[in-house]
Amino acid sequence: MCGIVGYTGPRPAAPLLLDGLKRLEYRGYDSAGIALVADGRIEVHKAPGKISVLEKELGTSLPPGHTGIAHTRWATHGAPNMVNAHPHTDCGGTLALAHNGIIENAGPLRAALAKRGHVFRSETDTEVLAHLIEERLAAGGALLAAVAGALQQLEGTYGIAVVSTREPDTIIAARHGSPLLVAIGAGENFVASDASAVLAHTRSVVYMDDGEIAVVRPTDYRIVDLDTVEKEKTITRVDWDLATIERGGFAHFMLKEIMEQPESLRNTLRGRLLEEDGTAKLGGLNIEDAELLQVNRIVFTACGTSWHSALIGEYMMEELARIPSEVEYASEFRYRNPIVDDRTLVVGISQSGETADTLAALREAKRRGARTLGLVNVVGSTIAREVDGASTKAFTSQIAALALLTLKMGRLRALSILQGREVVRALGRLPELVARVLTRAPEVERIGERMMRAGNVLYLGRGYNFPVALEGALKLKEISYVHAEGYPAAEMKHGPIALIDDLMPVVFIAPKDAVYQKVVSNVEEVKARGGRVIAVVTEGDTGLAKLADQKIEVPETLDFLTPVLTVLPLQLLAYYMAVRRGCNVDQPRNLAKSVTVE
Ligand code: F6R
Repeated sequence: MCGIVGYTGPRPAAPLLLDGLKRLEYRGYDSAGIALVADGRIEVHKAPGKISVLEKELGTSLPPGHTGIAHTRWATHGAPNMVNAHPHTDCGGTLALAHNGIIENAGPLRAALAKRGHVFRSETDTEVLAHLIEERLAAGGALLAAVAGALQQLEGTYGIAVVSTREPDTIIAARHGSPLLVAIGAGENFVASDASAVLAHTRSVVYMDDGEIAVVRPTDYRIVDLDTVEKEKTITRVDWDLATIERGGFAHFMLKEIMEQPESLRNTLRGRLLEEDGTAKLGGLNIEDAELLQVNRIVFTACGTSWHSALIGEYMMEELARIPSEVEYASEFRYRNPIVDDRTLVVGISQSGETADTLAALREAKRRGARTLGLVNVVGSTIAREVDGASTKAFTSQIAALALLTLKMGRLRALSILQGREVVRALGRLPELVARVLTRAPEVERIGERMMRAGNVLYLGRGYNFPVALEGALKLKEISYVHAEGYPAAEMKHGPIALIDDLMPVVFIAPKDAVYQKVVSNVEEVKARGGRVIAVVTEGDTGLAKLADQKIEVPETLDFLTPVLTVLPLQLLAYYMAVRRGCNVDQPRNLAKSVTVE
């Protein structure tokens, strides 16, 4: 994800900016750049790939300047290359701008600016803003007024940092939808998209809110609104130790990742929902609609958690796009003699983008003439480079990305515009619903405490929530080392029912969807045998809630999107049980982050 750092003060800015960027590296990015103001001009250096590439290009003689901005980019508009990397400049090269977020009306603004003679160098939405500010400066505006005026022309989201030769020791920063803060040092100040970038230098920060602009100079700063009216802000002192800083204030990385899901989902969906047309825009797809229409079969292939997402993808694709679909473990697919042809779309799903089996399965499919598509959470991973098209972050983001792909495929076939719009609206609401479920963490923690001594746990779900049962069981196994099984709820009576007694908790994933009544019958079967039932239910459900010993509520959404909400209590349950059992949740035994061996 994109990152911003800015510095103004007495020290040479370049080393501080590069160091700040490195502290944001964990967020993932595909290119980096810095811009410094010195001797009445702006010097910009950018490079695709890692910050080390940029450093190598800069060599030992870092550009001079005591005020500057730096950025790590995660491509949305335009390929991840040098030209599209930030900071971007205006025609005259007298201002530079770094931006996080998406300017939704960049297209028309760009066309109008081009007509007025502005020359664009990049394909980015960001460059538009540099030219808009240039125009206002040319008309005689002061830097703050020019930035504020230009921002009022934008639709979309932004966190920006601007430097200009007009006010060589000033950084203007603004926020609408993308996090940004001002960090206050002694005779020097910083701006950053994330506190970890600057906490080595100061612990006093002012968190900006949407609609605010910061004017930051070495010895002072002020915050104004878009009409440049001054605002009172409080300074927060960040007291975390270094390890906690890296964990963003959370006790464990795992909890941080769970709690970050509203944001990761927003990032997955940003700029990809076309409400008017009721469809999705998938920039990295690299496959024409005409070719997508040729696809008559989809094979999803993946391992572990990604394989569970694939199962949900299969169900969605068949129900909404009516394309025959199947799911294969990548490790099995690669050594079978799979039947695929040029009308088969083989979709490899991988969080790391480096899983050896998934890579090999995709290569095998490609060798046999199939169309291949990578759905990965790491930009620039091996899978992202080798497949015909790549999209983008773990389980809930994968489901959202699969929903986008299904929507796109469905709108080319069976889905009406009205159905499409309903899906777009439901997807748009998801991040907020996810945030709502996450506020229930203390309830889940209490349930986890009661379950901590269990030696076995059974997870049961049906339809879209059968893969969620598998995922809930996997999470518990891998971090708490408690044996758990996921099963389709109705299959339970064909064997596992023998295991049920009052010592075995049974977790039912039972939102109010098309198979809800069926799941209620399965809950009755467990209760009849003295089983202890923990149920994930839809808010306001009174039926199941009465039957279950404990319940966790999730808001209502479309059936095929329920896994994004129902999996959250299961992630939290695994986390709290593991913590209670004294397990090292961030380094579970025997597991590797990226499984690059078969
Ligand atoms: C479970 C987990 C693994 C991975 C699997 C595939 O929490 O992390 O099961 O899902 O190793 O990895 P990716 O998605 O990187 O291909």
